[in-house]
Amino acid sequence: MRSYSVLLVKQGWRFQVNHGQSILIAAQEAGIRINSSCRNGSCRTCYCQLQVGQARHLIDWPSLSREEKEEGYILPCVATAESDLELVTDYAFKI
Ligand code: FES
Repeated sequence: MRSYSVLLVKQGWRFQVNHGQSILIAAQEAGIRINSSCRNGSCRTCYCQLQVGQARHLIDWPSLSREEKEEGYILPCVATAESDLELVTDYAFKI
């Protein structure tokens, strides 16, 4: 199965995301907890900024403004990788 590498820039941690898998779940499977709550793209707890790469939301209306999307913000509970990614969040922890 195709997979992509995700680097959490501030922490220097890296994990793999399988094609179509949510970034949040992939992180969890790698022992990394990104803060989350609803896991359906509405609460914004998991909010991250994409610095490098291409991600795709798995739902039509993630809770982000057009400006936020243009600035690279994503909700990793409902987003998957379309290339290798570099993501910025302050709220990631080793499980
Ligand atoms: S956990 Fe609620 S938007 Fe991602």
